Amino acid sequence: MFFKGNSKSEKRKVGDELSHVAFIMDGNGRWATKRSLPREMGHSAGAQTFKKIVRYCGDIGIKVVTVYAFSTENWGRPEKEVRSIMNLLDDYIKTAEESNEENNIQYVFLGDKSALAPELRDKANKLEELTKNNKLLLNIALNYGGRAEIVHAVNALMAEGKTKITEEDISSHLYTAHCPDPDLIIRTGCELRLSNFLMWQSAYSELYFTDVLWPDFNESEVDKAINEFYKRTRRFGKISK
Ligand code: IPE
Ligand code: IPE
Ligand code: MG
Repeated sequence: MFFKGNSKSEKRKVGDELSHVAFIMDGNGRWATKRSLPREMGHSAGAQTFKKIVRYCGDIGIKVVTVYAFSTENWGRPEKEVRSIMNLLDDYIKTAEESNEENNIQYVFLGDKSALAPELRDKANKLEELTKNNKLLLNIALNYGGRAEIVHAVNALMAEGKTKITEEDISSHLYTAHCPDPDLIIRTGCELRLSNFLMWQSAYSELYFTDVLWPDFNESEVDKAINEFYKRTRRFGKISK
């Protein structure tokens, strides 16, 4: 069992070995299509799940949560769908600002903000500034691609005049330089791939895949993934003790 507390009244928490959990929130479109709804409805149901899961992760003691909200490749979707996702993000930022004091979440956006609409970019920057001293770190990958991130880091290093690059140099120039690598990556929605998510940082992450579509994902599904995490042996190339 991953939880430390053993009585129902005691709040159950994860241990230090699970500090960062990342989510590939996939399956919104299929969730909607199954119900004969437009895909946009799947994204708005997914946004509700996202809020619920972030709250739960904070409650059980996870210190860093990362979510894949929109990839560099997702711009290739129909304009109407892209617009609806951007509108949901805009709404989310507004709510996040309003509930700042009660939620105590630090927001960091991973990805290239320059491609976003200027108003959305400004709101994202303001939210990062407003919440920078808060407790639970929530990284939102938005216009994010793992390969683009590595290219961005290498270009930044070249601009600094570096001619020889170490692993530490790359890690410290990624969008995630402020946090540890993910211990666990959970992907909903049946697909068994990373789709350009945290390509560098996932080198030794435990991967968990579930058929549950993101809008149907809930707290007990998080527990299942965490229990599975605690059954794994992480060797990092070494041998077990
Ligand atoms: C994930 O759900 C959300 C984004 C990619 C923005 P999808 O929209 O990819 O849902 P499916 O995979 O089509 O069901
Ligand atoms: C990954 O899902 C991106 C997000 C969840 C934001 P996709 O639906 O874009 O991935 P593919 O196309 O199935 O690989
Ligand atoms: Mg998908």
